[in-house]
Amino acid sequence: MTFPRWRQSLARSLHVQRSKPEAKFFQAANAYMPGDSCDISDIIVENRTMVFRGFAQSSHTLLAISDSRSEKFSQWQQSPRTQLCWYFTKTREQFRISAQVSMVGSTGLLFQDEHADADVNQGCSQNSMLTSERAILWANLSDKAKTQFYWPTPKQALKDIEINGPPSSDIPDNFILICFHPYYVDYLNLTTTPQTREIHDISDKKWIYQDVNP
Ligand SMILES: Cc1cc2nc3c(=O)[nH]c(=O)nc-3n(C[C@H](O)[C@H](O)[C@H](O)COP(=O)(O)O)c2cc1C
Repeated sequence: MTFPRWRQSLARSLHVQRSKPEAKFFQAANAYMPGDSCDISDIIVENRTMVFRGFAQSSHTLLAISDSRSEKFSQWQQSPRTQLCWYFTKTREQFRISAQVSMVGSTGLLFQDEHADADVNQGCSQNSMLTSERAILWANLSDKAKTQFYWPTPKQALKDIEINGPPSSDIPDNFILICFHPYYVDYLNLTTTPQTREIHDISDKKWIYQDVNP
């Protein structure tokens, strides 16, 4: 598989900063309508930091993990689009990656954007492949990280949390794999004068890019 130019730049940045754990953190935003509202002025925007867990096999889909009890789960079900924002301090590059979101739990693909563009998640919609990615990511988690999935429900009134090891070796149902299928990337490099900005888009199943003014 040949990598599009944005992914080559991203791979380079990740490699240069491989010793910095924070290089794996991106912000993932979403916007959704609360309750039954149809009024655009009610739109709520949320944003949070997540850990990049690599790419799904043979695709450009970025992976992360989360807890299905957290709010992002229901928000992305309602509105399965995101923009990931990632800044690399050493190479001074920003990637803004617009993506469709799908999520995978113990029973396989839980949902995906019903308008999902086959060109976008091509190569990353096979249930068995995604289920095995989820199992591998669980197996690779430290015991400390696994324990969080047995804590009480996020954002409810604080209870005493028992900090024990994970109670079983089974993958808990609330452990979910989040797949971000990119369809548009806005790349900015601050090291050049003027700054370098590229817009990457999918057209006819191929990534194309254009240099634009910063
Ligand atoms: C450095 C850092 C990394 C994080 N990584 C993740 C992650 O990979 N997955 C996740 O669900 N939450 C992660 N979080 C917590 C989220 O940012 C967020 O607080 C939590 O998931 C609840 O978000 P929600 O209420 O929007 O669902 C991380 C937080 C920080 C500060």
